[in-house]
Amino acid sequence: MKVAVFDTHKFDRSFLEVANSNKHELRFLEVRLDQHSAVLAKGCTAVCCFANDKADAATLKILSDLGVQLIALRSAGYNHVDIRRATELKMSVVRVPEYSPYAVAEFAVGLLLTLNRKIHKAHNRVHDMNFSLDGLVGFDLHGKTVGVVGTGKIGKAFCQIMRGFGCHVLAMDNSPDKIWAEKNEIQYVSREVLFAKSDVLSLHVPLTPTTRHTIDDAAFQLMKKEVILINTGRGALIDTPALIRSLKKHAIGGACLDVYEEEAGVFFSDLSENGITDDVLARLLTFPNVLITSHQAFLTREALGNISETTIANITKFEEHRDLSGFQVKP
Ligand code: NAI
Repeated sequence: MKVAVFDTHKFDRSFLEVANSNKHELRFLEVRLDQHSAVLAKGCTAVCCFANDKADAATLKILSDLGVQLIALRSAGYNHVDIRRATELKMSVVRVPEYSPYAVAEFAVGLLLTLNRKIHKAHNRVHDMNFSLDGLVGFDLHGKTVGVVGTGKIGKAFCQIMRGFGCHVLAMDNSPDKIWAEKNEIQYVSREVLFAKSDVLSLHVPLTPTTRHTIDDAAFQLMKKEVILINTGRGALIDTPALIRSLKKHAIGGACLDVYEEEAGVFFSDLSENGITDDVLARLLTFPNVLITSHQAFLTREALGNISETTIANITKFEEHRDLSGFQVKP
């Protein structure tokens, strides 16, 4: 099958080539998918997208007119695809529901340790021959309360790591797994209790109309003044201007952000020669207690291998009219 693979980078292309093993004809494109670039899929039956490609109604119509029948996502999240429109256009959408929850959970912990213990600052200081410890004081995680929003695959892995650190773990989820929680000594609580009691708060829900801006001004008002907020879910789980207002008032301890509401077009790109035009992101970058990474929580060899293998298997199954349940996204 001919597949237009959008938003490809050095880091994922080789994994896709190995998994494909010349089975399908992959057309690697560095450009992100949107209504302007969709035409590059001409002649292909499938397009393969990543987290910042935009498969909205207009883009899907162009793809459908070109004869594209399959949207194969190299991600678990599918908030960037208009699933209803794809179904109306009789296009199938498949995703990689699980590739390595550990990759994301471990990275979230890495961000937390870095920001709390100021490891990034210490690293830079030492390379500048500045061996002073002033300004590098953090806090013990042992004995602290960690709140987790969403106890799916990634949230569960994160909870279990934090239990290993000796933290009390509180959680909320609209489908709580009570047996798992009891076994791991994790307590499900209300949103209000979770926000009020947590010293660390980590977001692991998908982005949906319900979860959009889970963290807004009202949520910040409930939180402890020292709370560290971690977002490796999706940027729009946080109302970014509300976060900036809280940071300016010193109403929270800090934020670790691997995702950002307006990351498309910025994250994954080298803009070091041009700078950025997004004033909100620029403001975020000025806070000493904000750590930002460019949507890299998934970036391990294991995750990239699993993403590539599942994506190629999804395309093959579609071509051979085989069962795609568990991988297909429906409205
Ligand atoms: P999952 O589907 O296993 O878990 C999601 C959990 O959220 C489920 O337990 C579900 O019941 C819960 N949930 C959904 N809506 C809710 C609501 N309104 N209120 C409370 N709970 C709700 O998903 P998984 O694999 O754990 O991934 C979570 C998210 O992490 C993905 O949707 C994706 O956006 C993000 N992600 C980020 C990556 C990164 O590199 N930064 C990589 C992979 C995923």
